[in-house]
Amino acid sequence: MSLTGRTVLISGAARGIGRATALVMAAKGARVALFDKEASVAATADAVRAAGAEAAYALGDVSDAASVVAGVAALVEALGPIDCLINNAGITNNIAPLARMGMDAWQREIGVNLTGPFNMIRAVVDGMAERGYGRIVNISSGAARGGLYNQVGYAATKTGLLGLTHNVCLEYGRKGVTCNAVLPGLIGTEVVMAMPAEIRDAFAGATPTRRVGTPSEVGHLIAFLCSEEAGFINGAEVDIDGGGRLNTMALGSRKELLGKK
Ligand SMILES: NC(=O)c1ccc[n+]([C@@H]2O[C@H](COP(=O)([O-])OP(=O)(O)OC[C@H]3O[C@@H](n4cnc5c(N)ncnc54)[C@H](O)[C@@H]3O)[C@@H](O)[C@H]2O)c1
Repeated sequence: MSLTGRTVLISGAARGIGRATALVMAAKGARVALFDKEASVAATADAVRAAGAEAAYALGDVSDAASVVAGVAALVEALGPIDCLINNAGITNNIAPLARMGMDAWQREIGVNLTGPFNMIRAVVDGMAERGYGRIVNISSGAARGGLYNQVGYAATKTGLLGLTHNVCLEYGRKGVTCNAVLPGLIGTEVVMAMPAEIRDAFAGATPTRRVGTPSEVGHLIAFLCSEEAGFINGAEVDIDGGGRLNTMALGSRKELLGKK
């Protein structure tokens, strides 16, 4: 499976799943366009180039439509039209019981996790349709299926992203554009590896594979969904969680699994 000749745009590529996905895309021969609010995304571009692929980056905020339009224009200028879009940028900044969830935090999660992908899709999808080829992959979460204890904003936006995915399919499928959602379980990104080990181990222990996933495992799934070969996969919601959805969706509320009374 090759992505040679394709230009792949990834939001949230300064670290974590986005950065790992950029490196998988480079290994598959794609040109890699990176969009992030953090200047450290430049290091991802350097790593992609060091792997032998073309890269460019733009700084901006996915929740701001004007910032997205300007960033995408600069990236198209540098690397050519976007064939594949990975809506990966996402935040969890809002951990509190529902009744005490701050309105600003709720709005910010909707802005980044849901309006962000909406902005990114609108910046590229008509061009994909005109060229008759497009792949959009929205990074949702296992939280879209069963919620996430004390993270109502995050869970609601990740479920909303499935609705956005469905509508892109309905409106653009006949034009050669597919849109799929990827639902990761706990993935060992820098942030997750910095969590207290007992919390991470509790999740891993309740997962049939008994470990967290790696960012590059998610990147390989995304790369396949971007390929020519994946053209009949459309509107899918693909779990990548080691089977964790089978018994851990309410983990945060099952304190005995976290060793608490
Ligand atoms: N890590 C996990 O266990 C896990 C599990 C399920 C789903 N996810 C989802 O996968 C995606 C990536 O997660 P991660 O763990 O790699 O996250 P991360 O926090 O490590 O990285 C997120 C990246 O997005 C960027 N970003 C954040 N807000 C932005 C904005 N407004 N505009 C542009 N860029 C922005 C950050 O700068 C960062 O580079 C997210 O959508 C997340 O919800 C992650």
